[in-house]
Amino acid sequence: MRKSSARARASSIPVRPIVKRLAPYVTPEEGRAGKLRLDFNENTLGCSPAALRALRRMTAEQLCMYPEYELSQRRLARRFGVRPAEMLFTNGVDDALRLLMDTFVEPGDTVLLPEPTFTMYRFYAEIAGARIAAERYDSDMNFPLDGILRALRRSPRLLCLANPNNPTATLLDRKALARILDAAPRTLVLVDEAYYEFAGVTVLPWIRRRAHLVVSRTFSKAVGLAGLRLGALFARADMADAMRRTCTPFPVNSAALVAAEAAMSDRAYLNRYVSRIKASRAQLAKGLEVLGARVFPSAANFLLVDFGPGGSRLVRRLAKRDILLRDRAGELGRDGFVRVTVGTPAQTRVLLRAIEEEW
Ligand SMILES: Cc1ncc(COP(=O)(O)O)c(C=O)c1O
Repeated sequence: MRKSSARARASSIPVRPIVKRLAPYVTPEEGRAGKLRLDFNENTLGCSPAALRALRRMTAEQLCMYPEYELSQRRLARRFGVRPAEMLFTNGVDDALRLLMDTFVEPGDTVLLPEPTFTMYRFYAEIAGARIAAERYDSDMNFPLDGILRALRRSPRLLCLANPNNPTATLLDRKALARILDAAPRTLVLVDEAYYEFAGVTVLPWIRRRAHLVVSRTFSKAVGLAGLRLGALFARADMADAMRRTCTPFPVNSAALVAAEAAMSDRAYLNRYVSRIKASRAQLAKGLEVLGARVFPSAANFLLVDFGPGGSRLVRRLAKRDILLRDRAGELGRDGFVRVTVGTPAQTRVLLRAIEEEW
């Protein structure tokens, strides 16, 4: 009796209003293993075999101990061409976003976003109690540069840019990025380079010159370690230091670091994988255009495709054949828009054949 009244009292603990209003992030369906996973921009071939071997060599003692970061940080920082003090490991870029908000964003601050973009920027900004100011890409998926430059005059606290952007797959060149940074001396600018390996454009070396720039990278995409959850944030040492203060003590597990180091050492494997995906991307874009779809230019490992009316139906039909794509109708405002991860050339051939039959 007493137990149940305690339970009833517990359920009346108020949830923050912002949490009640939050649109939940839609995580992938379960049971995707073995299917053609072209819905979450993962690596569809597998990480370097060197990473798997390194994981198998891990000892029980390594698993008993809390992770130690210093050595891995030193070695990985060298690979990225930065000093260890300029780098922080995070539990994926998702966790990096929460860290940024925790360190720099007060309730009521403005977070500026071009949209559509990676949905987690808005998600974490809203949890932080920020006000969102958004500038939309146009219907040809051109970045709203003038709108963003205008909005920066009001000095928002934070601007998040995915470069290349998800889901548009578009890339801002370094000139445009320099203009944005010059226009925003009092705004923290996150350049999220989750798909850097496929685009080859980076502003990482600029962190030393620009204190208001933070760059993020992930090991979930080209490197193929999404299941281990590892990301990194790069910023000038004093900025990185500030973020370290709000970081959980052990945000990243030991296995993630072991695998990441091995995967990053196998440069040849990574380069080969990226070249294959770029070749496959061209083959997929051409094949889709031949079938009559509109394909937007891509600098990433996915394509934004407009199939017109019937796009959502096509996604559902392909799912029945175990081919998973991501319907983006909601984000882009009408049926037809679908985000398609680029797989290997063989996977692309399977996909094109299935689309021809189902569309
Ligand atoms: C632009 C962008 N940033 C970050 C992420 C997530 O990265 P992580 O797996 O490291 O959390 C994604 C995943 O889709 C993304 O598209």
